[in-house]
Amino acid sequence: MYPLDYIQPVYRPPSEAYSLILQVTNGCSWNQCTFCDMYTAEQKHFKPKSQADINQELDLIVASGQPVRRIFLADGDAMALSFRRLRAILESIKSTLPNVQRVSSYCLPRNLKNKTVEQLAELEVLGLKLLYVGCESGDDEVLAKIRKGESFESSREALQKIKQAGIKSSVMILNGMGGLHYSEQHAINSARLMNYAQPEYLATLVVSLPMGEQRIQSGFGGQFKALKQVQLFREINLFLEKLELEKTIFRSDHASNYLILKGVLNKDKEKLLAQVEQAIEQPKTASLRQEWQRGL
Ligand SMILES: C[S@@+](CC[C@H](N)C(=O)[O-])C[C@H]1O[C@@H](n2cnc3c(N)ncnc32)[C@H](O)[C@@H]1O
Ligand code: SF4
Repeated sequence: MYPLDYIQPVYRPPSEAYSLILQVTNGCSWNQCTFCDMYTAEQKHFKPKSQADINQELDLIVASGQPVRRIFLADGDAMALSFRRLRAILESIKSTLPNVQRVSSYCLPRNLKNKTVEQLAELEVLGLKLLYVGCESGDDEVLAKIRKGESFESSREALQKIKQAGIKSSVMILNGMGGLHYSEQHAINSARLMNYAQPEYLATLVVSLPMGEQRIQSGFGGQFKALKQVQLFREINLFLEKLELEKTIFRSDHASNYLILKGVLNKDKEKLLAQVEQAIEQPKTASLRQEWQRGL
């Protein structure tokens, strides 16, 4: 374990399990999405960490002698920091930990509004190789109801900017995010967004509301109807059917998923659709995660 003190809780993508988590900000600058309770605790108010404190943490890592190959910049949207601050952080990483091969971060589309493609390309040269973008949906009605503060167009523009800068993107889409009423349009428009964006990685997570439905219902006027397991599978089925991807690594293996799916799209589309169909038609024969095995 790396010898750093974190303001808990800290979240990171599953693929950053072995990375050094460098908490360059605390919390999320937006923090309004009605499905997300990750940074709503008292101690998680958004605050950037000073460069002096970040340098001190990097020195601690160097002193520990532990090898670091990958760094994930936490918390919820470190890309909210200005270009100037991000450049300084990446330069510090480069000078103190020269063996780091990849720096990554969560990124809201709005985090890139004030950053040019040239600036992002400069960050890429300094080590920023991957951005995890929580699109959640490509449907404008659903996005408004969950108070994501983004739209199909703002998400598309940000993903295009990331690509033009030579940075890879990993997109998260939330299975069940529209509830029963918007399920179909959520699936179709989310696929449409992905077809425009052609991200290098795509992950689907199942909406999980351990703190209750109160916040999500506020955006849906009390009309949000959570999808049952088979309805979640039908939504994924439609989403997969509509995807036209050239070469995207698809993962539905986050702990929130009942059905684990992995493949390269569109190459493995038929195989993945067959797995989803089996889960719909013969759930007993499909290897599904039990409720107690799921988490966020
Ligand atoms: C820690 S958040 C940070 C993402 C980043 N702020 C963004 O919005 O792009 C990572 C992801 O967790 C997922 N997430 C958050 N709350 C969730 C919930 N209640 N159920 C399922 N997934 C959730 C969303 O896909 C979200 O984008
Ligand atoms: S999903 Fe992302 S932007 Fe929305 S509140 Fe959670 S961390 Fe913030």
